[in-house]
Amino acid sequence: MAEETGMLASKVALVTGAGGGIGREIALLMGASGARVVVNDVGASLAGEGASLSAAEEVAETIRAAGGEAVTNGDSVAEAAGAERMVQTAIDAFGRIDCVVNNAGILRDGIFHKMSEADWRAVIEVHLNGSFLVSRAAAPHFRKQEGGSYVHMTSTSGLIGNFGQANYSAAKLGIAALSKSIALDMGRYNVRSNCIAPFAWSRMISSIPTDTPEQEARVEKLKQMTPAKIAPMAAFLASDAAKEVTGQIFAVRMNEIFLMSQPRPLAKVHCGDGWTPERIADELLPAFRDSFYPLERSADVFHWDPI
Ligand code: NAI
Repeated sequence: MAEETGMLASKVALVTGAGGGIGREIALLMGASGARVVVNDVGASLAGEGASLSAAEEVAETIRAAGGEAVTNGDSVAEAAGAERMVQTAIDAFGRIDCVVNNAGILRDGIFHKMSEADWRAVIEVHLNGSFLVSRAAAPHFRKQEGGSYVHMTSTSGLIGNFGQANYSAAKLGIAALSKSIALDMGRYNVRSNCIAPFAWSRMISSIPTDTPEQEARVEKLKQMTPAKIAPMAAFLASDAAKEVTGQIFAVRMNEIFLMSQPRPLAKVHCGDGWTPERIADELLPAFRDSFYPLERSADVFHWDPI
């Protein structure tokens, strides 16, 4: 049986937003790798509306049909009581919790000067506050058992940039900082925290237009970077084989896995008797100018087709 022999044997994992897309594939692979899985999904539309447990139930049933163990939870990650309940579901069903995958997400894209406060708040609620709430609900258990692994989905939209996603980018970069903070604060309890910036064909990016043959050809290629390609990295990070891995950010795109950089000082000037605005203009600007980052988007940095 998978659960006795797999890389995640004896582990209990909670995967949020696991009714579809990337979360579904992570839940399925974790289940097949021996983990007992709580499949959480509120069953929302892409913009975060509506609720249905049926997708999560299908995923749990698929895990069970393959010989694994899974239960469902339909709470929203954006509510503290819901986050508590999904962790409690793991404790009630399986007696413990070893891994939290913060994957649930919604999109409310819009160009910044037209972005509404409601769209800003909705995205921050689900991604950033949701990742905090679910992580926080699991933290006492991780602390008590002196072990646990967090895997958070960040995005190159936040790490690098993208048009029309101020809410999402801010939330996703916030999640990278949340992950690092958890890694620092809970390292003493043998708790690890890492991020994955996935690239996958899912409903989140399926709205790319296919009006021209070139666009159509590109979309056909993009469709090959399936959500299933993200799952092995998440399962590895949940396992004891990753015990030395914490505070890291990985990007995963089809068959490529990247270790992402984290900000460090890039250039330095020093002025013994202090800076004035004029001196900054005269001395700092020419010294730093060549080191300034161009206004790149994720697609400028990951400019080749997925391989
Ligand atoms: P998806 O839309 O297919 O799946 C997200 C799931 O989260 C849905 O099943 C939805 O019902 C659920 N959900 C939404 N709000 C929820 C809430 N409040 N509580 C619980 N569940 C909730 O999206 P996809 O593409 O699978 O994305 C998964 C994660 O990966 C997200 O965090 C996303 O931001 C991130 N990501 C995805 C990329 C991609 O290329 N697909 C790129 C970068 C990041």
